[in-house]
Amino acid sequence: MAKKKIGILTGGGDCPGLNAVIRAAVRRGITVHDYEFLGLRKGWLGLVKGDAFPLTLGDVEEILPQGGTILGSSRTNPFGSNSGEEVPACEQHFKELGLDALLAIGGDDTLGVARKFSDRGLPMVGAPKTIDNDLSGTDYTFGFWTSIERVMESIDWLRTTAMSHERIFVVEAMGRSAGWIAAYGGMAGAADYILTPEKPFTLDELVWSMKRRWDAGIHYAVIVVAEGAEWHEREIIQEDVAKDEFGHAYLGGIGLELSKALGKTLAPDLGRKANDLTRHVVLSHLQRGGTPCAFDRILGTRFGAAAVDLIAAKKFGYMVALQGHNIVPVEITDAVSVTKVVDQKFLDLASNFYY
Ligand code: F6P
Repeated sequence: MAKKKIGILTGGGDCPGLNAVIRAAVRRGITVHDYEFLGLRKGWLGLVKGDAFPLTLGDVEEILPQGGTILGSSRTNPFGSNSGEEVPACEQHFKELGLDALLAIGGDDTLGVARKFSDRGLPMVGAPKTIDNDLSGTDYTFGFWTSIERVMESIDWLRTTAMSHERIFVVEAMGRSAGWIAAYGGMAGAADYILTPEKPFTLDELVWSMKRRWDAGIHYAVIVVAEGAEWHEREIIQEDVAKDEFGHAYLGGIGLELSKALGKTLAPDLGRKANDLTRHVVLSHLQRGGTPCAFDRILGTRFGAAAVDLIAAKKFGYMVALQGHNIVPVEITDAVSVTKVVDQKFLDLASNFYY
């Protein structure tokens, strides 16, 4: 009997641990289920173009510690194209490549596409990836804890220079609609203020907190702000913001704006020059690149193995998820329909450490 052929793709922003999933899926798929694998290049673009290559045990042998993805990635959305030709092209290539099932590794956008193809009858399973940790149905997505380590270390490093120069550093973390990275990275690094999309803020409350620090004799601060934090006074002119194929705006810039506004408002009271008091750092893709931490290697490995077991069980339309200590199947629809946001209690706890 011909071996079953499984496609794998990685879509959306890359993150550490993608290769751990690919390695585990291929290894378990070949050695336990006797499958063959095809890697699709650059996310859904690979299926749109029929661009694929055989993935062997040798290809995945050394990749566990490697960041990024050996398959490449893109933010291609076949359902978002104006021509209407990309969805049928994907279905055609699925057949021509002889695929029996496809493992889509991605965040809400990539898995949203998998769900749509699943609704149209293509056998899909998913594995939840994103440093943003904003997918529902799973306690954590892989990549998240690596990014937390990076934010934590950055705060540690910035604290020493902030203290030397009695400065306020505004550190901009990723997170468009949920502030997981800012909140967890901030708490791990003992940030002196954390700003997220979940809890709108005003400049006044931040200024007030900084003044309290200074009054208490602590003349420096490290503030972490999520790129999508809700700042009441901030105005974004939407037409000027570039969007990706899934309609997401490219954010960034809040750290600089906040640092300037803080400097201007606070410096006169502290007897400082505005342009000397504050500095900003955009952590950007340093949070996403490089080697995965131990947790993400293990989570990725468990996800990859469980995903091929889902295929073997013909449980299509599901993604693997971490709930407590267990890896469980969750309907992709449930995972992508609601953005998972940071618990208010967690943010309240973080605020216990501000002045
Ligand atoms: O993967 C999600 C994310 O990390 C967001 O937090 C961020 O806004 C976005 O990716 C940036 O991605 P890129 O620059 O690759 O488009």
